[in-house]
Amino acid sequence: MRATAIVTPLAFSQKFSGRGNLPPGATGALAAFDDLRNGFAAAQTDHVADAARVNKRETPQRGFGPLHNADSCGSCHFNPVTEAISELSEFHARQRDENGLFADAAGDSLINSDALAGAPLPYVPDREKMPTFRFTLNVLGDGYVEAIAGETREEIARSQADSSGGRLAGQGIRAPLLEAPGQTRAARFDWENQHASLISFFADDIRGRWGLRLNRHNISRRGKVK
Ligand code: HEC
Repeated sequence: MRATAIVTPLAFSQKFSGRGNLPPGATGALAAFDDLRNGFAAAQTDHVADAARVNKRETPQRGFGPLHNADSCGSCHFNPVTEAISELSEFHARQRDENGLFADAAGDSLINSDALAGAPLPYVPDREKMPTFRFTLNVLGDGYVEAIAGETREEIARSQADSSGGRLAGQGIRAPLLEAPGQTRAARFDWENQHASLISFFADDIRGRWGLRLNRHNISRRGKVK
């Protein structure tokens, strides 16, 4: 990603709602899997150091495990560069609740696929299976997605049926912001749109995939684990 200009959220929405070209002064979003800094990191060496953090392996001393899926973000997000996609998937189980409604398996829908030596793997009863395999999503570009105003996303969803002649009609949903209790925002991350900010995503992610038990008090505003 060589260029440093960024596309505005408005331009992004116009591009995707088919309502026109970029406004004056805006350029298209960066798009390249070249492992070069994107203009936010001051130097290429910073970008390389960031990638090393993504690939850093967690340890039980830092609270990793016993159940987990992998011990670094880069274990799943690596193809063709760090933080991109991969063919790795996760198993999610669901069940019908007492009212016959679709619900998570007891505890969590994510069923961990690995455990530290000596720890038993989770047992999933047949009634809870209703399985889904979710493939790893791309993290590159999520900063742009985060920057889009919630109202813009909701407006895109509302206008889609008209602008696509009824072929497409998105449904906007809101998700709780884990870092701001009581507040919600237009959801945007994960296959089921269950998160509205990258900090919320991160807190849930390291709990689910790494087994770290965190709450909002030990995640700083920049998403760093204290
Ligand atoms: C075991 C494999 C695995 C590991 C390890 C993993 N991810 Fe992911 N990642 C996934 C999968 C699968 C999804 C889609 C999950 C879903 O929809 O519920 C995903 C989704 C995401 C998303 C949402 C992307 C979007 O645009 O919606 C982000 C951000 C992300 N991961 C960041 C991370 C970070 C940061 C880490 C390390 C803390 C990490 N991931 C570790 C597999 C993994």
